Amino acid sequence: MFPREVISVGSLVLRVPAEDDAEAIIAACADPVTARFLPLLPSPYTREDAMEYVRRSGEKWERGGAEFAITENGRYLGSAGVSAPDGWGTVRIGYLVAPWARGKGVASAVARALADWLLDHGASRVELEAEVENLASLRVAYRAGFVEEGRRRGAKALRDGRRTDQVTFARIARDPGVATEPFLPFFAGGELSDGVVRLTPMTVADAGDYHEMLREPSVAAFGLGAVNSLEDDERRCRYTGYFWLSGQRVELAIKDAATGEFAGHIQLVQIVPDFGQAMVGYSLVSRFRGRGFMTRSVRLLTGWAFAETPLHRIVAGTDAANTASQAVLERAGFVREGTRRELFPKADGGRADEISWVLMRPTAGEKS
Ligand SMILES: CC(C)(COP(=O)(O)OP(=O)(O)OC[C@H]1O[C@@H](n2cnc3c(N)ncnc32)[C@H](O)[C@@H]1OP(=O)(O)O)[C@@H](O)C(=O)NCCC(=O)NCCS
Repeated sequence: MFPREVISVGSLVLRVPAEDDAEAIIAACADPVTARFLPLLPSPYTREDAMEYVRRSGEKWERGGAEFAITENGRYLGSAGVSAPDGWGTVRIGYLVAPWARGKGVASAVARALADWLLDHGASRVELEAEVENLASLRVAYRAGFVEEGRRRGAKALRDGRRTDQVTFARIARDPGVATEPFLPFFAGGELSDGVVRLTPMTVADAGDYHEMLREPSVAAFGLGAVNSLEDDERRCRYTGYFWLSGQRVELAIKDAATGEFAGHIQLVQIVPDFGQAMVGYSLVSRFRGRGFMTRSVRLLTGWAFAETPLHRIVAGTDAANTASQAVLERAGFVREGTRRELFPKADGGRADEISWVLMRPTAGEKS
């Protein structure tokens, strides 16, 4: 049993929810973002739902869990809940912040303080789970010092029945509990452009074009493994924000700046912070070739990476037969580092050599 305390977090006060909070709870739960990311909440959300929630909050405390209203100067800003500990002392927390209080660090401060309080009161492990597309909540987890532990695939369903993955986090007593800053910041302004090409984070709207491009024989010839299903490619596009925020990869659509058409894809993958190294990979739709689009895209992406991240080496690997790709890298300033023999398995059962390339972080005074 956790003590029924009031917890102070800076100017915020966490206390037991009360019937007087009902109007604010209704407004917070009727919000479309709340409804999107908490699909088990009733929709539409009524006064009866709010009163039932307040009543059940009392029961939750009696069962060994906890439920708090997050308030400031007496005003309801959101809710935070704690499950009763399991047999190993693990608890799970959840939260929502009302639309009028978002983007001010409320959830991050509450998640951190609640985890500290729970660990101080005998919990051995505090778990938190966020849907893979819930970037605000993922960011809260990193900012509150939680450590990412994995992704539970297809673990929950949305209101329309689509299954979705849940990213799992935890804090345990020996964790430092410090905020993790993203190794890969998002683009200021949302995209990179040189006026001819635009690089935009991949979204589900790009999935069809992306999927078609990967099926083109001239692209598939240099791909690895079987071509994904459209559903797999859609899922991958939906995860762009999570991959980015978690420092795993950057996935971009290349758009023709003049028309907005999807022209190709470029990515930074295999990011190894300890080496300060990442790998660039790309493909262009065939009718956009021969216009310098990919060289421009590689220059934009590598220029951003050296300006905005600590990366020191950006590497690339081309099939020894892929002279067009090698020309792109040379024009973008990459130099050959060597050959990895028989690296690429080919569809005919043979293997192709890889030529390895690198672009180094420009030294002071050098232009990237
Ligand atoms: C998730 C939620 C609780 C966040 O509350 P909040 O008080 O606004 O959170 P914070 O201000 O502490 O932090 C939000 C972070 O996410 C970032 N963020 C918000 N929307 C984002 C988006 N679409 N893409 C990327 N980052 C985003 C904010 O910039 C902020 O990070 P920063 O401080 O580094 O800039 C709130 O959006 C909410 O209630 N959503 C609906 C319910 C929900 O999702 N609950 C959690 C279920 S796991």
